[in-house]
Amino acid sequence: MVERGTAHADSTRAPATPERTPVPPFDLVIFGASGDLALRKLYPAMAHRDSEGVLPPESRIIAIVHQARHMQDLPPQIVARLAKEGLSPETIDRFMRRITILQADANDAASFTGLADALGSSPHVRAFYLSTAPDLFVPICRNLAAHGLLEGDARLILEKPIGRDLASAMAINDAVAAVIPENRTYRIDHYLGKETVQNLLVLRFANTLFERSWSSRDIDHVQITVAETVGLEARAGYYDKVGALRDMVQNHVLQLLCLFASEPPNQLEADAVRDEKLRVLRALRPITGADVARASVRGQYAQGSIEGQAVPGYTDELGRASDTETFVALRCEVDTWRWAGVPFYLRTGKRLGLRSSEIVVVFKPVPHSIFAGVAQEALAPNRLVLRLQPNDGLQLHMMMKVPGSGRLKLVPRTLDLRYDTAFDFRTPDAYERLLTDVIRGDQTLFMRRDEVEAAWAWIDPIIQGWSDFNTRPLRYPAGSWGPSHSIGLIERDGRSWVDPEDA
Ligand code: BG6
Repeated sequence: MVERGTAHADSTRAPATPERTPVPPFDLVIFGASGDLALRKLYPAMAHRDSEGVLPPESRIIAIVHQARHMQDLPPQIVARLAKEGLSPETIDRFMRRITILQADANDAASFTGLADALGSSPHVRAFYLSTAPDLFVPICRNLAAHGLLEGDARLILEKPIGRDLASAMAINDAVAAVIPENRTYRIDHYLGKETVQNLLVLRFANTLFERSWSSRDIDHVQITVAETVGLEARAGYYDKVGALRDMVQNHVLQLLCLFASEPPNQLEADAVRDEKLRVLRALRPITGADVARASVRGQYAQGSIEGQAVPGYTDELGRASDTETFVALRCEVDTWRWAGVPFYLRTGKRLGLRSSEIVVVFKPVPHSIFAGVAQEALAPNRLVLRLQPNDGLQLHMMMKVPGSGRLKLVPRTLDLRYDTAFDFRTPDAYERLLTDVIRGDQTLFMRRDEVEAAWAWIDPIIQGWSDFNTRPLRYPAGSWGPSHSIGLIERDGRSWVDPEDA
């Protein structure tokens, strides 16, 4: 217990050290082991943890590939990727010795025998990561179960997307539930593994200052922007079938909204946190029928320029016509006592002006200005910006007096806390935390079945509305902030977007 009055004035400067508690010995099995996610995120995440001494020596990674040629070409690809991460040759060498590559076909039960043999009766924590297309989730689960591999304490990790609507998500969840219980199922939303997203919980619930004004009493509205500068990358096959609403809003953006808007959980425990997030999802006012046109904007990038470089439009990159949205903006409301009357404006898109994700909280203006007549600048309402990436941190915009003995003059200034200056060590990638949380058996940062389904239940009517009213995406030039209709969406309410460069 902290005794009152014992804190030193400079206690905030006490050096912080990174958290490096070792995990128990494990066997991590990765399906889709030669895929983009595994190479870009999963091996680097585990190798970083390895380099920091978090992985016990006997722990193994079993990489399952579909095609025989990957048995040979995968190791050099992993090594090249880890070298790009700046890991030392010794670390890479040690990490590579943990990896066993096996070939299996998701749809062929007999091909799982090699995996069963490799796992044998190892007492390690066993985790299966399905980093594959979602249509392989069910056959893989069935074949793992057929070999008895999901028994005991085994854990199953599912990458998003879990389905493409409520019905398909439920079908996947039912099939998974038939072979492994919910308390051993880990649905990844990597945004929950981002340091700053977790810091949202800390900001709200480890400080009294903010939580007291975290409601319609003091907050005018909230903006959540997840802006990317990348386009299709090499993901045309996946992305064109999905679009921004399913790819980003159903999961990442709604999870941010949930953590922002939830009631305080009574403790930091998986179900306590997830119960509160679920309540937010269920309180989201449905956007249906004709409201879809008023409360949503769909966009698709056309050619333009990003950081001074000309870039092609979406359909040029794709090589054919398409009505898939690469941008979406929504106006939504959370129907609870806390949030009644506070609009949440959400937007996300590819090929926008800047890579930047942030939550902007715009507070209400002061109820009565005593400065009318003396202030030369209008009083700007307070604004709290929670910056998720890049340059993670938070900024509080407030009014200050300009020093001087002449006429009273007020100007807006910013309190700026950047995590990279507050801590002088590397910030781990989201997957580093998430993978080690699975091994530790902590589900707090994973989506529970009912959350995923509640999110789809809210998203489905928007997609239905777009289809019923034949809402085609509006073109926006690459490098802009989306279609001008998205400005209209917020300006209709007498408000405006705070673009990240203005934040
Ligand atoms: C993924 C989406 O889940 O998140 C991608 O499928 C998107 O389309 C990515 O680019 C964004 O993640 P981050 O961590 O780069 O913000």
